[in-house]
Amino acid sequence: MIAPDKYTEQTLLATRAWTPSLLSIQTSRDPDFRFRPGQFARLGLATGDADPQIIWRAYSIVSAPAVGHLEFCSVLLPAGAFSNLLRNLPLGGSVFVEKAPYGFLTTERLVRGGDLWMIATGTGLAPFLSILEDSYCWSEYRNLVLVQSVRTEAELAYRASIEALMAAPPGHSGGARLTYLPIVTRELVPATLHARVPELVVSGELERAAGLALDPSTARVMLCGNPEMVTQTRAHLTMRGFAPSRRGIPGTLAVENYW
Ligand SMILES: Cc1cc2nc3c(=O)[nH]c(=O)nc-3n(C[C@H](O)[C@H](O)[C@H](O)COP(=O)(O)OP(=O)(O)OC[C@H]3O[C@@H](n4cnc5c(N)ncnc54)[C@H](O)[C@@H]3O)c2cc1C
Ligand SMILES: NC(=O)c1ccc[n+]([C@@H]2O[C@H](COP(=O)([O-])OP(=O)(O)OC[C@H]3O[C@@H](n4cnc5c(N)ncnc54)[C@H](OP(=O)(O)O)[C@@H]3O)[C@@H](O)[C@H]2O)c1
Repeated sequence: MIAPDKYTEQTLLATRAWTPSLLSIQTSRDPDFRFRPGQFARLGLATGDADPQIIWRAYSIVSAPAVGHLEFCSVLLPAGAFSNLLRNLPLGGSVFVEKAPYGFLTTERLVRGGDLWMIATGTGLAPFLSILEDSYCWSEYRNLVLVQSVRTEAELAYRASIEALMAAPPGHSGGARLTYLPIVTRELVPATLHARVPELVVSGELERAAGLALDPSTARVMLCGNPEMVTQTRAHLTMRGFAPSRRGIPGTLAVENYW
């Protein structure tokens, strides 16, 4: 339960269905809602009963801070309480947004410069899109590596937007080179990798595909999405010397679990 003075009521402006179980939405944005790329918002949807309640869930913000609307990308689970409300929400419907943004999957937590690796499963891609839409990372890092692991090719959401960013980085700030490494685990798709992230880290295949070393002296890594992927990948990276930010001292690793 969140007190009414802690959230604003926004409007559903547009949707895009990537698959029957993957939906992007755009909502209006309160002018006072400010966030850093990589953070998440708490979204609320009202149940349709006689005594409506608001169901709240965390959602990473896809859009950049400079954009006037908010964008999110959501999984639609068959039995998910929020999924079922979102699936049936009409354009113009109400989306409640908690006034405070949350989360530490932000570049401030990381040692400056070097190569930034952003590794996602499923909708864990979302915070990395906001980071990439912002010009800061393009001027700060030498290389940007975006890894997106999904089950099927159809779930490679935002692929065209990512390729557009590679061709024309925001702000024309130049500097960084973006390498995009899609992974499709349940189909054989040309020009994509075909194994889970921890396996690709251990085998060195991810580094070979990026042409860069996963070495804490040069690399900063962000992990987001499936908690098992995060735990297993983190364990391998810890053995290589990667460590999260501690007591305000930037680290080489930042993670976010979605459940
Ligand atoms: C910090 C944070 C940020 C998040 N950002 C996003 C986001 O940007 N997009 C998004 O779709 N979800 C995100 N989530 C998950 C989101 O809050 C909801 O749990 C999810 O959208 C499903 O809600 P639900 O009520 O339908 O099902 P729930 O009852 O919340 O979830 C049921 C089960 O579905 C699985 N599940 C939950 N979320 C996902 C997911 N994203 N992908 C695959 N399986 C999942 C888990 O096994 C979970 O136990 C985030 C969660 C956290 C903690
Ligand atoms: N994706 C769909 O088409 C679909 C449709 C309806 C419902 N759902 C439900 O939605 C939920 C999530 O589906 P999702 O595909 O978005 O998320 P997901 O299960 O987290 O899968 C996304 C990616 O993460 C990989 N992954 C899973 N566990 C991993 C681990 N321990 N280590 C490394 N990588 C791992 C998956 O590989 P693997 O393929 O090897 O698991 C896949 O490439 C599930 O509950 C599912 O039943 C999904």
